[in-house]
Amino acid sequence: MKLMQPLRLGELELANRVVMAPMTRNRAMPDGVPGDAMVDYYAQRATAGLIVAEGTWPSATGQAYCRQPGIATQAQIAGWRRVTDAVHAAGGRIVLQVMHGGRIGSRMIKAAGVETVAPSAIRAAGEVFTDAAGLQPYDEPRALTTDEVHDVVREHAQAALNARSAGFDGVELHGTTGYLPMQFLSSGSNQRSDAYGGPASHRARFAFECLAAMAKAIGAGRVGLRLNPGNTYNDTSDEDSAATHAGLMRQAATLGLAYLHVMRAPVPDIDAFALARQHFGARVIVNDGFDGASAEQALASGQGDAVSFARHYIGNPDLVRRLREGLPLARFDRKTLYTPGEAGYSDYPACAGAAPRG
Ligand SMILES: Cc1cc2nc3c(=O)[nH]c(=O)nc-3n(C[C@H](O)[C@H](O)[C@H](O)COP(=O)(O)O)c2cc1C
Repeated sequence: MKLMQPLRLGELELANRVVMAPMTRNRAMPDGVPGDAMVDYYAQRATAGLIVAEGTWPSATGQAYCRQPGIATQAQIAGWRRVTDAVHAAGGRIVLQVMHGGRIGSRMIKAAGVETVAPSAIRAAGEVFTDAAGLQPYDEPRALTTDEVHDVVREHAQAALNARSAGFDGVELHGTTGYLPMQFLSSGSNQRSDAYGGPASHRARFAFECLAAMAKAIGAGRVGLRLNPGNTYNDTSDEDSAATHAGLMRQAATLGLAYLHVMRAPVPDIDAFALARQHFGARVIVNDGFDGASAEQALASGQGDAVSFARHYIGNPDLVRRLREGLPLARFDRKTLYTPGEAGYSDYPACAGAAPRG
């Protein structure tokens, strides 16, 4: 099985090509510090060739969700260190997804006095769950000044350094799902008139500068990028998403990054995997809706070099073994996806019976 063959992505050595995709599970403490349940949850999944840990905020303004972890404070770094130590002790590799929520967020979630910022002062349609007051509309964001954009780029470099201090093997920039890099990238949420707005090449500048700064901080071979051309989640819209993404992919390729993690486009007229191959090249992780057989096919046909799985990882901590041995996959309980505590998180059992050696 090609899925079980080792792979090198930049500086990252993967024992197999099964990647655990990032999943926000809202299990951190209220101050964004990972606790015991997160240590167990990630360690249980350490047989993945690579774990991409959940979207994590680089600075307090970047927090989008309740109980979402951060990588900004010493306590958060120390909390994550326990996670990475446990994953490494179990033989795994783990990178951290750096996620700045931008306009996706609410003051009811963030610490007192922390603002919601975005490329432009355009509120996203929709609501977000808050522990304090249930569903709330997204904040009206304040547009970042040009100097502040530079500051946020620097925060990304610092987050990469902090992730390394916390023991992560690398970082992945979250460039999908309508969070800050995608807000800059997409014409619907970016109406800036400075160097970060206007034509697609300018709108891609923020993501590119974040990647370049992260690469300078910790080495390009430890930095990945996640993209999803055509994504309209969180009120995202773009005049030509395929072309915009192709431009960013070409630029990102010049940095010598560890990988591009690409989700299939939710629209039929964009072939996101082909776009990634054409404009980024090698070291592509493909995602969305794969099972063992279709993952094997994607590798055989050269669509990607590795495949990531999200939902199958919720109820199958030993997914690698189950795929290798053709064991049945467990389902998961939607009700406990985002609730605090261990239930429906770190209490899904591995398959009975010892895994064979090797
Ligand atoms: C509970 C949950 C949380 C998610 N959180 C994130 C996240 O933090 N960052 C991200 O890039 N994608 C996130 N996603 C998207 C997944 O990484 C993945 O792209 C998607 O589930 C499709 O892959 P799958 O078919 O293997 O589940 C999340 C998905 C789920 C189900």
